Amino acid sequence: MRELRNKTAVVTGGANGIGSGICHALAQEGSQIVVADLDGQAAEALASELRRQGARALGLSVDVADLGSVQALADAVVAEFGGVDVVCNNAGVFIGGSIRELTPDDWRWVMSVNVDGVFHGCKVFAPLLLARGAGHIVNTASVGGFLSNPEAAVYATSKFAVVAFSEALRGDLAPMGVGVSILCPGAVRTRLAKSDVHRPRALGDAGNHSEILWDHIKDGIEPGQVGEIVVRGIKADVPYIFTHPDEWKPAFEERFASVLACFGKV
Ligand SMILES: NC(=O)c1ccc[n+]([C@@H]2O[C@H](COP(=O)([O-])OP(=O)(O)OC[C@H]3O[C@@H](n4cnc5c(N)ncnc54)[C@H](O)[C@@H]3O)[C@@H](O)[C@H]2O)c1
Repeated sequence: MRELRNKTAVVTGGANGIGSGICHALAQEGSQIVVADLDGQAAEALASELRRQGARALGLSVDVADLGSVQALADAVVAEFGGVDVVCNNAGVFIGGSIRELTPDDWRWVMSVNVDGVFHGCKVFAPLLLARGAGHIVNTASVGGFLSNPEAAVYATSKFAVVAFSEALRGDLAPMGVGVSILCPGAVRTRLAKSDVHRPRALGDAGNHSEILWDHIKDGIEPGQVGEIVVRGIKADVPYIFTHPDEWKPAFEERFASVLACFGKV
């Protein structure tokens, strides 16, 4: 999608961090913005800020882990804007810690948001894009979607899943005019290290497993920079959108070299 003016964009996890950076950048392009977040008040606060800046914007509450909630979001977007052109499945949570301390509820929580959430967004919104015969989906993974780490095994697993699903989706939807990009940020200074606050009570005690991330992201880039990179990625229809190419490329080269080195080894 080379032209984003007057297009309708939905951004989940849009109220804070990277999502808010994407909302601002798309609004700057002239898109109509739906800020969708578990925190409906924060979503509406950002939408009203965007309206003050001249954009058409709506803030809505959604729990991406719940298919019915995502369907209700889509219904509200269609009622307000008549359809949708850009969908950023960006809501996500972080959990760190070794497998020795992580619980089945930790696993369920992260998968329900990071993996089910992306699937729900694609399942519900892709038909709306296909109905227009055009559009773009951006699914937020991470550099952790390619590089696993003993301190973040569950998070990395969820992001590997986002990469695999999105690669398949790109092949599926491209012939019908819909692009798919996978956003793979490095460190971005956001509230991700406070993810525990979003954990449903039914999934047990959070145990502050998210906080260990702060040391890794406190000196990260600002979400606004990511938003601008995402806009360029949508316009260029690139499969992967990297925010820190110089910093992370060597680690990717090392990873793929170590995989290739095992072919024929035994
Ligand atoms: N910050 C980083 O360094 C970094 C790096 C790589 C990937 N990411 C990914 O970027 C995405 C955005 O994270 P961020 O860093 O901006 O964090 P953030 O915590 O600042 O923002 C995440 C937003 O998602 C919302 N959210 C949480 N659970 C939700 C749910 N069930 N339904 C709907 N909304 C929900 C939160 O309310 C919050 O507004 C995540 O997918 C994260 O994994 C972040």
